[in-house]
Amino acid sequence: KASPRLRQVMASLTRHLHDFCRENEITVEEYMAGVAMINGAGKMSDAKRNEGQLLTDVLGLETLVDEITYTLAGEAVDIPTATAILGPFWRKDAPVYAMGESIVMNGIPEGDHTFMSGRVLDFDTGEPIENAEIDIWHTAPNGLYEQQDPSQPDMNLRGRFYTGSDGKYNFYCLRPTSYPIPMDGPAGKLLTLLDRHAMRPAHIHFILSAEGYKPLTTQIFDRRDRYIDDDVVFAVKDSLVVDFLPREGDPRARFGLEYDFKLVSY
Ligand code: DHB
Ligand code: FE
Repeated sequence: KASPRLRQVMASLTRHLHDFCRENEITVEEYMAGVAMINGAGKMSDAKRNEGQLLTDVLGLETLVDEITYTLAGEAVDIPTATAILGPFWRKDAPVYAMGESIVMNGIPEGDHTFMSGRVLDFDTGEPIENAEIDIWHTAPNGLYEQQDPSQPDMNLRGRFYTGSDGKYNFYCLRPTSYPIPMDGPAGKLLTLLDRHAMRPAHIHFILSAEGYKPLTTQIFDRRDRYIDDDVVFAVKDSLVVDFLPREGDPRARFGLEYDFKLVSY
C-alpha cells in the first residue's frame, strides 16, 4: 500500500510533468529524445560511472535538495559547517591513514602538494570531537578521479583519517584543479546542446562522521579558481570557499590549508 508521502509526491510530480508538456507543447519526437536520454544515462551507470546523478546535477537538482534538506533541519541560518553535494565520485572503503600521511599514492611530482590541517568541533559547545572520521577525495592534476583514470593506482587521492582527543587532524593532499565533468554521456550532450560549459571549480570532497553527531557531506572550494562563481552543478557556498596559503619550510608541501569542521550533535 502506497505511503501518504509517496501518493503526495507522485501526484505532484505527475501534475508538474503534465503542465510542463502542455506549457511547452512537447511533441512526440521531443518526448522520445527525452526518453532516449534517460535510457542512455541508465546504460552508462554502474559502480564507476554515476551518469544518472551527473545528469540531474547539471540541472541543479542535487544542490536544490541539499538546500531544502538542511534548511528544513534549521541549519541554513546559523550555520555549522555547510553541506554540499556528494556528486558521483565518492567510493566506500577508502584507505585508512595515520595522521600526517599523504593520500597522494604515486608522487605526482607536478602536483601542488598541500598540507591540510584543522579541527573537528562540536558546533554548540566548541569542544573538540575525538575519533571523528574524515573521508576525503579529490581529482588528480589531469582533472580525473582515480576510478575514471586507469593510469592512477586504485584508491589514489582518497583516504580516511580519525581525529585525536584534541579534535585535530592533518594530512597531505594536492591543491586541486578545476576540470570538466565527463562529457561522453547524456549530461555532457545536454550541456553541449545548451551551450553550457562543463567546468567545476577546484574542490575537495569530505564526509565527516562522529558518534552522536549528524554526518556531514561537503566540499571546500579554492577562492582563486576562475570558475568559483560559475560551477556547472551550482554547489559553491561562501562559507566553503578557502585560501591555499604558501607554506614555508616544508619540503613535502608548497601550500598550507587550515579548516575547522563544526558538527551538530543529535
Ligand atoms: C559532480 C560532482 C563532482 O564533485 C564532480 O567532481 C563532478 C560532477 C556532480 O555533481 O555531478
Ligand atoms: Fe568532485
